[in-house]
Amino acid sequence: MALKPIIFYLFFFFLSLISLTHSFTRSPHFFPASLSLSFSTQNEALYQTSYFTQTLDHFNYQPQSYQKFQQRYLINYTYWGGAANKSPIFVYTGNEGDIEWFAQNTGFMFDNAPYFKALLVFIEHRFYGESIPFGGQEVAYSNASTLGYLSSTQALADYATLIIDLKKNLSAEGSPVVVLGGSYGGMLAAWFRLKYPHVTIGALASSAPILNFVDIVSPYSFNNIITQDFKSVSESCYRTIKGSWKQIEDTAQQPNGLEKLRNSFKICKNYISANSLENWLSTAYIYTAMTDYPTPSNFLNPLPAYPVKQMCRAIDDPTVGNDTLARLYGAANIYYNYTGNATCFDLNDNSDPHGLGEWTWQACTEMILPTDGNNNDSIFPASKYNYSNRATFCEYSFGITPRPNWATTEFGGHDISIVLKRFGSNIIFFNGLRDPWSGGGVLKSISKSIVAIVAPQGAHHVDLRFSTKEDPEWLQNIRRKEILIITKWLKQYYKDIDHPTM
Ligand SMILES: *[C@@H]1O[C@H](CO)[C@@H](O)[C@H](O)[C@H]1NC(C)=O
Ligand SMILES: *[C@@H]1O[C@H](CO)[C@@H](O)[C@H](O)[C@H]1NC(C)=O
Ligand SMILES: *[C@@H]1O[C@H](CO)[C@@H](O)[C@H](O)[C@H]1NC(C)=O
Ligand SMILES: *[C@@H]1O[C@H](CO)[C@@H](O)[C@H](O)[C@H]1NC(C)=O
Ligand SMILES: *[C@@H]1O[C@H](CO)[C@@H](O)[C@H](O)[C@H]1NC(C)=O
Ligand SMILES: *[C@@H]1O[C@H](CO)[C@@H](O)[C@H](O)[C@H]1NC(C)=O
Ligand SMILES: *[C@@H]1O[C@H](CO)[C@@H](O)[C@H](O)[C@H]1NC(C)=O
Ligand SMILES: *[C@@H]1O[C@H](CO)[C@@H](O)[C@H](O)[C@H]1NC(C)=O
Repeated sequence: MALKPIIFYLFFFFLSLISLTHSFTRSPHFFPASLSLSFSTQNEALYQTSYFTQTLDHFNYQPQSYQKFQQRYLINYTYWGGAANKSPIFVYTGNEGDIEWFAQNTGFMFDNAPYFKALLVFIEHRFYGESIPFGGQEVAYSNASTLGYLSSTQALADYATLIIDLKKNLSAEGSPVVVLGGSYGGMLAAWFRLKYPHVTIGALASSAPILNFVDIVSPYSFNNIITQDFKSVSESCYRTIKGSWKQIEDTAQQPNGLEKLRNSFKICKNYISANSLENWLSTAYIYTAMTDYPTPSNFLNPLPAYPVKQMCRAIDDPTVGNDTLARLYGAANIYYNYTGNATCFDLNDNSDPHGLGEWTWQACTEMILPTDGNNNDSIFPASKYNYSNRATFCEYSFGITPRPNWATTEFGGHDISIVLKRFGSNIIFFNGLRDPWSGGGVLKSISKSIVAIVAPQGAHHVDLRFSTKEDPEWLQNIRRKEILIITKWLKQYYKDIDHPTM
């Protein structure tokens, strides 16, 4: 089969090796406008924006290290009980993109600030959004000698530095800090608790695949879970998608085959190939599985509640014709055209409305999260996992060789239950088992205070989303559990400072 393997999924984003360029498969052209519009009314009300003068390199003392850049953070004092009361500070450890996007999708913090009387802070990750060293993207993104300062260890040190300085400015040294994050941000939250226990009392790490590294979790796990997501909804839906790849290939080979595909899927009048169409469809399946939320959402694209079910309904019960291509077209419409505003679909759309692009660098250096193996029964074409695909891509793109073992050397991961049983405390690992990243998550509690919360019906960091009246009981219960655990950490902290042992 000619479908080349997609080489690495980013959390919300993936690259294909096909063109060896940054070819980001994104949603159609209406996407950026629609999203920024729907958020901008909410924006102003949610937080104030601040900047902190941050150090370029925390880990050596050469003159270049002392260069500074402006790091953005968002802050909301509305519900804070104040420094005098030692009221808590909730810090979101920003992930690979514009921090406003993550803040607007982390309703958990806003919803629960009144109960905790918490100060809310969202810190942007270096090299994303507005927090870009070297005066901006043009220099910062130009090559490995500047991108070299983009790493998780630098980001964690940024967070520690900023938090300590902010507490000093607010005379809030006595206020306990809880860190929270989802996805890569959740990995950072968990690692922050392990590396900086003197800066945070505990971490809520939601859908954080800290085990999705070489030799820990199978590179077939990610696509196995997507396969299961579709199969569990409808076996025939799974079989239709599974069988469609060959049909797309075969159609493309026929005379005028590409034009036939273009018409079947209403693809805009520009470049089309079997590969680009297959990647575009894969993207829809992957992200729909990842964001299979129980209520309507608008995280990546506007989607209905339980979008996998909706996709499978479009496939099993088509409205526009019942050949395979027509069925797939209906499914694609769920992900790419739920609002009904798309006039045609652009397979070459490289728009990146949330500024996720530099994840490519991270995925080429330390964040080697193998996800692209496909077993024979995968919903995608079978393909053996092959690490050297990525290494080749990274050498071509940046002239660098990935360090697939660095993350686990720096943060651990092997035998995590043995290691953390006697080290570390106060971490919640949430995972929804419908989320393809959950295979790389911590799914079993490790100790009394390193706790796994698992939702069989849950998707990617669903717990952190704004609560709604339609939230199912299981989701409400999970959030209650998380709030209870965080309350316990705070109680412990206040007890400890009242009764110091030394
Ligand atoms: C789609 O069009 C409707 C009106 O036709 C409009 O209200 C809505 O905001 C549009 N959605 C997007 C995402 O542009
Ligand atoms: C802080 O968040 C609350 C709750 O969402 C909101 O009502 C308030 O306007 C926000 N305050 C600021 C200063 O942004
Ligand atoms: C890398 O980028 C920097 C900043 O744009 C530039 O000064 C330097 O010459 C570049 N190095 C290489 C090897 O291209
Ligand atoms: C703390 O205050 C100083 C002096 O006003 C300021 O430069 C710095 O940015 C503040 N820190 C934070 C985290 O905002
Ligand atoms: C669906 O398939 C049946 C045969 O299985 C055919 O008779 C019918 O015309 C098809 N309907 C549409 C809308 O294409
Ligand atoms: C998007 O959905 C609307 C409403 O269902 C439909 O009229 C339109 O053709 C769709 N766009 C594409 C590109 O399929
Ligand atoms: C698929 O099955 C074939 C034949 O049994 C086997 O040789 C191949 O390794 C399998 N592929 C994968 C990705 O498991
Ligand atoms: C892995 O991919 C490389 C190209 O990146 C290729 O040369 C090599 O043969 C592949 N290995 C296997 C086992 O398929």
